[in-house]
Amino acid sequence: MKDIKAILAERSVGSAITAKGWARTKRSTKGATFVELYDGSCFSGLQCVFDSGAASPGLEAALARVTTGAALAVSGVLVDSPAAGQPVELKASAVEVIGECPADSYPLQKKAHSLEFLREIAHLRPRTNTIGAAARMRDEMAYAVHTFFHDRGFRYVHTPLITASDCEGAGEMFQVTTLDLDAIAKRGEPVDYAKDFFGKKAFLSVSGQLNVETYAMALGKTYTFGPTFRAENSNTTRHLAEFWMIEPEFAFAELADDMELAEDFVKHLLGWALDRCGDDMAFFDKRVQPGLIGMLDGVRSKRFAHMTYTDAIAELERRKEPFEFKPYWGCDLQTEHERYLSETVVGGPVIVTDYPRELKAFYMRLNDDGKTVRAMDVLVPRIGEIIGGSEREYRYDVLVENMRAKGLRPEDYWWYLDLRRFGSAPHAGFGLGFERLLRYVTGIENIRDVIPFPRAVKQADF
Ligand code: 4AD
Ligand code: MG
Repeated sequence: MKDIKAILAERSVGSAITAKGWARTKRSTKGATFVELYDGSCFSGLQCVFDSGAASPGLEAALARVTTGAALAVSGVLVDSPAAGQPVELKASAVEVIGECPADSYPLQKKAHSLEFLREIAHLRPRTNTIGAAARMRDEMAYAVHTFFHDRGFRYVHTPLITASDCEGAGEMFQVTTLDLDAIAKRGEPVDYAKDFFGKKAFLSVSGQLNVETYAMALGKTYTFGPTFRAENSNTTRHLAEFWMIEPEFAFAELADDMELAEDFVKHLLGWALDRCGDDMAFFDKRVQPGLIGMLDGVRSKRFAHMTYTDAIAELERRKEPFEFKPYWGCDLQTEHERYLSETVVGGPVIVTDYPRELKAFYMRLNDDGKTVRAMDVLVPRIGEIIGGSEREYRYDVLVENMRAKGLRPEDYWWYLDLRRFGSAPHAGFGLGFERLLRYVTGIENIRDVIPFPRAVKQADF
């Protein structure tokens, strides 16, 4: 059986077909009943037209059971459509109701629902236009990630989700334990993690970077792509507790190589969306963010702007905007600053480099000024930071000194330090937040609407 995407692409007018899917809408006129059948294979549904003249009592009874959301098998002949809106339609002669969908209790009606409401029925929301299109885009973008790296000789490495080390050193990790902490507390005993499953305190990983670095020092060009977890107490439209991240890591690379890879990567993903996801992108452009396609097309043909953190701060100070948080050298860039830099100062993506060492993680390469590190963040309009990366500190002594300065114990990272003892080489990498990319590409405002089942502060339903 062909799916609707294939039926609409092939347009084999005159052939008898059966299509299976769900009713999106049903409407009747004097002469005919129209059912829009969709199966999720593409944005469009198949228009099925039941001529009243040809209807048998059996067909009438079956049609009466067709409601929005019902699962159907519709048979008929494919014909050229006389109406605008679709090139072909199904001249239907039979319908089998496979699964009824009672209209009085089904939460999804024909009308548009708010995205807030849809989050409360996350198990049904992929049936809607917006969330269905977002789900297809997510799949397309994941595929595009792999093609980009595969075509460039990068190897996909699966890094662990459970770890004993805090990659970002920000202490925002979820603990993993099989100890009965309640019982231990009741007995008034101290917790002995030597008795825990892993024999030590363990966590869900905030990043696969440290592990993928070990493979970059063996395979040369690598990347990891998987879920990461952060117990950040940030209830915003750009933070999730569980999000997916793509982290390339490559040997004999410096900051400039890292920036170039990041720019090529983002452009590849945007290009993929524009060139291959026409229907879904047309919907986002029309209904979610007007002008989206033109904007993304512009991004793909222009070089990303570059700016040091020091210049960025100077620019922010000079502009005298009424920021909620007043910028100064040494402050962490807030979302409002990031957005201002990309939206107003540059008018497109901008790569900010060389941040103060105090703001960034221990693994970033220290510049000769002793104050800044070879970091780079890619900032885009509407969202702010979409990528964070750096050249890595590959000098053993400097790295140890950096760890100590940040209160980390070098012995906990002995295996990571070994990479600097045995054949150390400059290398670099970055992390792209997959859901932030999806927000950028689809125009969808809230990060919770581009992941099937969002996990955020006080939210782990479904
Ligand atoms: O800047 P971050 O923290 O960098 C790292 O984790 C590095 N280890 C990456 C590397 O160099 N290999 O995170 C990278 C990206 C951010 O730019 C952002 O897009 C995304 O991950 N991100 C989040 N996305 C959703 N929810 C959150 N709570 C996020 N935190 C970071
Ligand atoms: Mg960051």
